[in-house]
Amino acid sequence: MKIHITDTVLRDANQSLAATRTTFDEFADILEVMDKAGYYSLECWGGATFDSCLRYLNEDPWERLRKIRDKVKNTKLQMLLRGQNLLGYRHYPDDIVRRFVAAAAEGGIDIFRIFDALNDFRNIEVALDEVKKRNAHAQGTICYTISPIHDLESYVKLAVRLEEMGADSICIKDMAGIMSPKAAYDIVKAVCENVKVPVIVHTHSTTGLAPMTYLKAVEAGCAGIDCSISSFSGGTSQPATEAMDYALKEFGYETGLDSKLLKKINDFFKPLKQKYIESGLMDPFVMGTETDALVYQVPGGMLSNLVAQLKDQNAMHLLDKVLEEVPKVRKDLGYPPLVTPMSQMVGAQAAVNVLLGERYKSVSKEVKAYIRGEYGAAPGEIDPELKSKVLGDEKPIEGRFADTLEPGFEKAKREIGDLAENDNDVLSYAAFPQIAERFLRRRKESKPVVFTYSIVKK
Ligand code: CO
Repeated sequence: MKIHITDTVLRDANQSLAATRTTFDEFADILEVMDKAGYYSLECWGGATFDSCLRYLNEDPWERLRKIRDKVKNTKLQMLLRGQNLLGYRHYPDDIVRRFVAAAAEGGIDIFRIFDALNDFRNIEVALDEVKKRNAHAQGTICYTISPIHDLESYVKLAVRLEEMGADSICIKDMAGIMSPKAAYDIVKAVCENVKVPVIVHTHSTTGLAPMTYLKAVEAGCAGIDCSISSFSGGTSQPATEAMDYALKEFGYETGLDSKLLKKINDFFKPLKQKYIESGLMDPFVMGTETDALVYQVPGGMLSNLVAQLKDQNAMHLLDKVLEEVPKVRKDLGYPPLVTPMSQMVGAQAAVNVLLGERYKSVSKEVKAYIRGEYGAAPGEIDPELKSKVLGDEKPIEGRFADTLEPGFEKAKREIGDLAENDNDVLSYAAFPQIAERFLRRRKESKPVVFTYSIVKK
C-alpha cells in the first residue's frame, strides 16, 4: 500500500521553527533535487509565507510561487488556505477569494488545503468551489481539537459534509500536536469507513506524540502524512521525513521516496539550520519536546504567547490561574478549536479575566466580533449570559459573514493605482493593504519591472 508523504520544509516546518524567514534564494538550489525525491507533494506556499514575503523578505509571493514551479516540474505543489480568510486574518469578499484561488492555481498550486478555524464550512465553500473550477485538488480540512462536544461522531459528520461539498481528499489537521495515537486511529478509521476520498493526517511533533500518531493513523487507513526533512523536523515542526519513510517501508508500505536523495536534501538544509541557530532566528526551545500542552490542552504557541503576555504585565505569578481560566473561556465561547485566530482570542481573554479580577469586565473587540458571528458559527453553544452581556439587543449574524461584504477587487484596484503592475499585485494589496502597499512602493522606487503576468480572466 502506498502512503503519500508531503514535505513541509518550505512552509509549515519553516513557519514553525524559523518564523517563515527563509528566502527563495536560500532554498532555490535544492528544488530540483526535491522534485526528484518522490514526494507526493511539497507544501511550499500559503500559511504565513505570503505575509512574510511582503512584510520581511521583500519578495513578491506570486513571483516566488512561479520560481518554485519553474524548478519543480513534476511534484505537486501544495498550499494552506484559511478559507474565506485566505492568508490573512479577516474575512474577504467572495470576488477576492475567487480571484486569489484562481491566481494561485494559475501560478502553479496543484493542491489547496482549505480550512476554517471554527470548522464552519460555509467559510470554505467559495474557495473550494473555485479550486474545483480551476481543476485543482481541493483538500477539505477538519481542525482537530479536544472538547466535550468534539466526539468521534462529530468528526465523521464533518468529513461526510466535506465529501458532499466536493473535497477531493480530507485532511485532519492537528495544529497543536495533541492528537494521540489512539485518537488518530479511532478518528481515521471512523472517517475512512464513511467517506471514499483519501484521508490525510497533519500533526506537529510539539508534544512528542506525532510519529506514533502517524503510525496508528496509517494502520487505520490514512493515505498520507505530512513530514519535514529531518534538519527542520521535530519540536513545533513535523516528524522527520526520513524516519517516517524508514519505519513505514519496514512495515511494507510504499512511499516512493528515494532515501539517497532525502539525504542530499537534508545535507542542503543542515547548514541553513545551523545559520539560523547562530543568528538567533531558530530558538532551541521550539525544537524540543513540550508536554505541557497535554496537561493544559493548549497549543505550545499559545502557551508561549500567554507567558510573554504575563511577563509583560509583571504577572507571571498568575500563570496557573490563567491556565485554569483558559478552558472556562473556551467553554463559554462554545469550544472553538484553539487555532489562529481563536487561540490568541481565548488566551488574551482568559488573561484579562484573571488580571482584572472579574470575568468579562472587559471583552476584547475580537471576542465581541466572534460572539456577533463574524467568524462563523461557534461549534457549540455560547454562554447565554455572556452573549446577552456583549450583544445587548443586537442580533447576531446568522448567515455567512462574507455575504455582508461588498465586492472588493475593483475598489482595491482603484486604491492601489499605478503601484500595481498586474492583477496579482492588486490581490496582494487587497489581502494585506499596508504591507503590500509598502512592498509595491519600494519595488517601484528601487528596481525596474522584472516580473509581470496576468491571471486568468474572469
Ligand atoms: Co501545521
